[in-house]
Amino acid sequence: MSVEESKLNHRVKRQSIKENFQYIKKGKKEAMAEWANNFNLQIFEQIQEIYKKKTKLNLIIVPEVLCKIYDELKEKGIQLIAFLAQGGQGMVFEAKKKDEIIIVKCIQIVNLEKTEEEVQILEKLKGIPNTCQLIDSFNSNKKNFNFQIFKKYSCDLKNIMECAFEKKKSFLLNQIIYISLQISQAIANLPNMFHSDLKPSNIFYDDVSKSFDLSDFGATKEFKDGKSFTNNVGLFLYQQIISDNLYPQLKFKALDLKYRAPEMQEENLNLTKKYDIFSLGLVILEMTLGRFIDNLESNQIRKGNLDQYLSYDQAHVELNQILKLMLKVEQTERIAPQELVKKLNELKEIVEIKFINSVLNVINDQRLQSMIQDFKQYFQEYSFEFKENKTKLNLQEIGVQVQLNIKQFEDCISQKNGWLILNLNESQMPNLVIKIQIKK
Ligand SMILES: Nc1ncnc2c1ncn2[C@@H]1O[C@H](COP(=O)(O)OP(=O)(O)O)[C@@H](O)[C@H]1O
Ligand SMILES: [Mg+2]
Repeated sequence: MSVEESKLNHRVKRQSIKENFQYIKKGKKEAMAEWANNFNLQIFEQIQEIYKKKTKLNLIIVPEVLCKIYDELKEKGIQLIAFLAQGGQGMVFEAKKKDEIIIVKCIQIVNLEKTEEEVQILEKLKGIPNTCQLIDSFNSNKKNFNFQIFKKYSCDLKNIMECAFEKKKSFLLNQIIYISLQISQAIANLPNMFHSDLKPSNIFYDDVSKSFDLSDFGATKEFKDGKSFTNNVGLFLYQQIISDNLYPQLKFKALDLKYRAPEMQEENLNLTKKYDIFSLGLVILEMTLGRFIDNLESNQIRKGNLDQYLSYDQAHVELNQILKLMLKVEQTERIAPQELVKKLNELKEIVEIKFINSVLNVINDQRLQSMIQDFKQYFQEYSFEFKENKTKLNLQEIGVQVQLNIKQFEDCISQKNGWLILNLNESQMPNLVIKIQIKK
């Protein structure tokens, strides 16, 4: 090759690289715009991926639809900021409205009538102490979603129990009474309905007011005649249990089998608030044991074999007596909500008197008074330890990760400076990342 030839060759090469770079620049810009457009989609896809890795479950609302929900809520001044959890019917998000943090529950409307019934139940709970209060509710433009707005709680009771159990720290007796009293009062005050899915993850804790509220009324049913409950709705609940057993692979669980009452197994369903009392009994039992019971154990308890599972701790002797009344197999023998509240209040007084007697001779009057005050305070306000929600995923943090990928892509281009060969035309630009070939 002559010098001239070689010079020409070099010029052509340089020219080609220059052109290629313009292509890259232009393509990069377009690709970046595409990235920005798909930014939310990528965030939700990322959430889907992480959630699937953690739980082996899919999100029940697909990322494409979540993007639409995100935009629709944004127009209403509600900015989704974190994914918290998902249940049988919908997904729970933390959101910001003006400067206030709220919770948005996005529920897929399968049966409009049923969803409306659910919202009506929440409306009826307004003003009932120790129940999670609905702030607002509206349907999506296309009427395929129902959005329910609640205040943000610190965590659920399951979280607090896990935290305590992991540290091998059992609950103090007055802590157990403190929680039990609030939830049994909530059951007693439910207007003409029972919850039917009472379990630790449906009891929420507010670290500011230090109160526990009964929540998630998605499976709640009203009584038809004000007292008992023998109609087809009972059968509907029964069928749900059966279908859970038959199709566990569907992973669609409206009701937790472990905490159900024995009457759910009967075909002749006669459900009352005592259904919830049984479930609460199992939750309290777990708190006294300092561990979660399993399905086999709860099956045994439903069969009436409770004694072997009760806590041996001397401190729980009186509470165990109440538990025996809560966990009676026969509804007619089981303690009623009002009576339970009374018994727990009596126990609270007994515990107070025991405490006073135990310190009476040891400490002087003034110190005694202040100690008693402190002790009584424990029944009014109790701080519980908890961990951050395990499934919580912050949209902004995930957004940063997605942005990092773009950055990596940019770095990749600049590092390989000049040695890029493009084999794409304009129409392929959005797929730039894959189509670029790097020649070393
Ligand atoms: N208002 C809230 N504040 C804090 N966490 C919440 C709130 N609502 C729901 N969560 C979290 O999301 C989980 C699922 O919400 P829940 O209302 O029980 O719906 P479902 O079980 O029907 O999906 C709860 O167990 C709780 O951990
Ligand atoms: Mg729930």
